Amino acid sequence: MNAIIFDLDGVLCHTDEYHYMAWKAIADELHIPFNREVNNQLRGVSRMESLELILRNSPVCYSEQEKFLLAEKKNNIYRELLQNITSKDLADGDGLGLPICALEKLHAVHIPMAIGSSSKNTPLIVEKLGIGKFFDAIVDGNQISHSKPDPEVFLLAAEKLHQKPSDCLVVEDAEAGVKAALNGGFLVAGIGPAKDCPNINYPLLSLSELLAIEGHPA
Ligand code: BG6
Ligand code: MG
Repeated sequence: MNAIIFDLDGVLCHTDEYHYMAWKAIADELHIPFNREVNNQLRGVSRMESLELILRNSPVCYSEQEKFLLAEKKNNIYRELLQNITSKDLADGDGLGLPICALEKLHAVHIPMAIGSSSKNTPLIVEKLGIGKFFDAIVDGNQISHSKPDPEVFLLAAEKLHQKPSDCLVVEDAEAGVKAALNGGFLVAGIGPAKDCPNINYPLLSLSELLAIEGHPA
């Protein structure tokens, strides 16, 4: 393993909870059943595709214009929630209440690192959390045409790191993200809900476990 590509929402930070809250507000308003199980299917999936998945549970047929406005409304709620994010929203990297520690340690051993996220809000989140300095490349939803499970976001990140996919470890919390990484020929570590996904190379309980993998090539 020569490099690590991190998903953002649900891996580096707990913004996945804010996605859930924002979609829940929209679903409740439309009287569409929505729970954490449905929400887990939206992890890694683009905004419009997430809306389509939610609307599958509605008997109402929405026009393209209505869908656009619903997605915009969700994003406004989400961005309002993002205004309050701080380092407490960073994932707990070492289980000791020092969330940035794992990133700092990996950065210190000069392992190239990138973010590969479907989110168009990545620049805002990275700026608010102050984690940009750790990454050699950031690829997000603004730079890709195909969302996970398509491997585009990770392939572009590997290219920017000048690495072959098979030399990069992707860290993901989403089934769609794990599939994207496997489709692209990457090594995969699953964390959170993706810990038990089939075919992953490493199940992780915390990001600090990456320090044990680094230096022990798969
Ligand atoms: C992914 C999230 O990182 O980004 C998804 O896991 C989200 O839940 C997707 O739908 C797109 O995010 P955004 O911020 O562009 O709406
Ligand atoms: Mg994620």
